[in-house]
Amino acid sequence: MSTVLLPGATLGVLGNGQLGRMFALAARRMGYRVATFGPGTGTPAGQVCDLEVDADYRDEQALRAFARQVEAVTFEFENVPAEAGELLAEHVPVRPRETVLHIAQNRWREKTWLRDQGFPVGDFATVESEAALVDALERLGTPAVLKTAGFGYDGKGQALIRTPADAAGAWQAIGGQAAVLEAFVDFHMEVSVVAARGTDGSFAHYGVFENRHRDHILDVTLPDAPVGPQLREQAEDIARGILEALGVVGVLCVEFFVASDGRLLVNELAPRPHNSGHLTFDASLSSQFEQQVRAVAGLPLGDTRLLRPAAMVNLLGDLWQDGEPDWAAALADGQTKLHLYGKANAKPGRKMGHLTAFGDDREDAARRALAARERLRGGGGHR
Ligand SMILES: Nc1ncnc2c1ncn2[C@@H]1O[C@H](COP(=O)(O)OP(=O)(O)O)[C@@H](O)[C@H]1O
Ligand SMILES: [Mg+2]
Repeated sequence: MSTVLLPGATLGVLGNGQLGRMFALAARRMGYRVATFGPGTGTPAGQVCDLEVDADYRDEQALRAFARQVEAVTFEFENVPAEAGELLAEHVPVRPRETVLHIAQNRWREKTWLRDQGFPVGDFATVESEAALVDALERLGTPAVLKTAGFGYDGKGQALIRTPADAAGAWQAIGGQAAVLEAFVDFHMEVSVVAARGTDGSFAHYGVFENRHRDHILDVTLPDAPVGPQLREQAEDIARGILEALGVVGVLCVEFFVASDGRLLVNELAPRPHNSGHLTFDASLSSQFEQQVRAVAGLPLGDTRLLRPAAMVNLLGDLWQDGEPDWAAALADGQTKLHLYGKANAKPGRKMGHLTAFGDDREDAARRALAARERLRGGGGHR
């Protein structure tokens, strides 16, 4: 039905951050041309694309011009206005389709959709006013987490509510806007499944990753989360069910909590490659970015097997606070790979790059990755 876009074709990506950069690197390696669209020049993606369009996502004229320059469009950033996806879809295939973007960019719609489809989610309520928040707190109890419906990432737009007395402060802290209130999940592990679906409905996934967070930001990812075969299968089945129900063509990541009572709960969706899948770039036969290229181009998906035990650690801007990190020291372990995103300003909490390390087993790889990051600070540094 859909035509295959062969190497030489130009793939468009909405967004110009690190996910677009790694998509472009994978695509160009396979001989595609890549164009990025988003505000700014010299961006992480723009640096490695054939074309960097500096425009606002609401600029219809620029979007139309972009549509004429590309043969398919994907995105690396879900907070693109859904109208941009709709407009582009009138001219070129948008993969995943704009409905996926519409649902996944808004926690309210996403959580409601997941629940209505029968996927397991924790207790939540949608709230539009402080009064509604007070009511919802009565039903859900405390602690609870209040999250803005739109534009949240890396824990931004969230407020923890410890007691009902925190309601007013939390409502103000998130800017008094449409939000989702979630019961606090007492979890013993956070895991994710990065999966891909092709134009022919084929499905591939990378198993279950274990994600360790720090200050609500992903810190370390290890493959093969120790969750037991039953939970692993359940997580993979849920991921498949979600990609199929949404009709995703592309890559989508499902973030889960493994609750202390053993339940597996979906936390959120990311309709694109995900930070927890970065280790696939070096450690898997086909990376999550190559899968995105293959899916968007209508090619068969690649084999996802892990070639060797690996672990990923993020490099945040905090590492720059005493000057340029000691890259040579980090790379002294030859089993460590450095990825930097080409961002000029290192701000605390900003994702600047990551390290992937290999090892004899997953924990050995994680130790090597953490040790390499420690050496970046000249050995003696700490947060
Ligand atoms: N309901 C919850 N219960 C417990 N911890 C939570 C809850 N919601 C979020 N968190 C913590 O905050 C992190 C970030 O929240 P998340 O909803 O994934 O937002 P985002 O990743 O978009 O910032 C989660 O990975 C988890 O560690
Ligand atoms: Mg998250």
